[in-house]
Amino acid sequence: MNETMNTGVWVTGASSGIGKAVAEEFAKIGAQVFISARRVTELERLKQNLGDDGLKVHIFPCNVASSANVEQTFKKISAEHPVNCLINNAGITSFKSAESNSINEINDIINTNLLGSIYAIKSVLPHMIQNGGGTIINILSVVTTKVFTNSSAYSASKLGLKAYADVLREEVRKYKIRVINISPGATYTPIWNTDARKKYGDRMMNPEDVARITVSAFLQKENIVNEEIIIRPIEGDI
Ligand SMILES: NC(=O)c1ccc[n+]([C@@H]2O[C@H](COP(=O)([O-])OP(=O)(O)OC[C@H]3O[C@@H](n4cnc5c(N)ncnc54)[C@H](OP(=O)(O)O)[C@@H]3O)[C@@H](O)[C@H]2O)c1
Repeated sequence: MNETMNTGVWVTGASSGIGKAVAEEFAKIGAQVFISARRVTELERLKQNLGDDGLKVHIFPCNVASSANVEQTFKKISAEHPVNCLINNAGITSFKSAESNSINEINDIINTNLLGSIYAIKSVLPHMIQNGGGTIINILSVVTTKVFTNSSAYSASKLGLKAYADVLREEVRKYKIRVINISPGATYTPIWNTDARKKYGDRMMNPEDVARITVSAFLQKENIVNEEIIIRPIEGDI
C-alpha cells in the first residue's frame, strides 16, 4: 500500500492557481485531499479533471473569511478522515497603493489572508494535538522578505501570518506539529491580471513547480521541519 494513502490533506483556495496545483500534486501521490474554496464549480472541475486520482479528492466549499464557516467545514472534514496536513493557501490581493485602497478592500485582504488562515489553524490544532502531530503549511509570499510598493495590506497580511506562524511553531513543537512557511515569488496564476501575465508570464514560475516544492516539504521525515522556504523565479522578482 502506498505510504501516503492514509494522509489527509486540507487545501484552502483549491479552485485555482497554486492551491489547485497543490491539491493535484497531493492526489497524485495518493493522499486523501479535501479541497475548499468559494467557487464550487471550479472544485468540481478539478476533481473531474483528475480522473482516477480525483477519487481521492473531496469537495468541502468554504469561505475562509468566516470563522464559523471554517469551523463547520473542518468539523465535516475531520468526521470523514483524520487530517495530517493543512495547506493555508486561500488568498487575495489588490495591487493598489495604500492611498487608493478602500477600507473594504483592506478588510477583505486581512480577513482572507491573515484571519482566514488563523481560523483554519485554530480549527485543526486540537485535532492535530489529539492525533499526536501534523503539518501546517502557510503559503506566504516574497513580500515577507522585501518591500514591494502597491501591496501594503497584502504585505501586512502575509507578514502578520508569518509572525503568528513563527510563534505557533515554537509552541507546538512539543506536540510534533510542524509549521512550514513557504514564500513564493511571482507565479503564473489568475491573481495577476491578464496584462501582467502577458507582460511577465515568461519570467514567472508555474504553480505546479511551487506545488511540487510544497509537497516535498511535507514529505520530509516527520522529525524534521523545513521552517522557511523562499522560492523565486531564476530571473528574480517582477
Ligand atoms: N501567484 C503569485 O505570484 C503568488 C506569489 C506568492 C504568494 N501567492 C499566494 O498564493 C496563494 C494562492 O494564490 P494564487 O496565486 O494561486 O491565486 P488565485 O489563482 O487567484 O487563487 C486564489 C485562491 O484563493 C481562493 N480564495 C480567495 N478568497 C477566498 C475566501 N474568502 N475563502 C476561500 N477561498 C478563497 C480562491 O478561490 P475562490 O475564489 O473560489 O474562493 C482561489 O482558489 C495566495 O495566498 C497568494 O497570496 C501567490
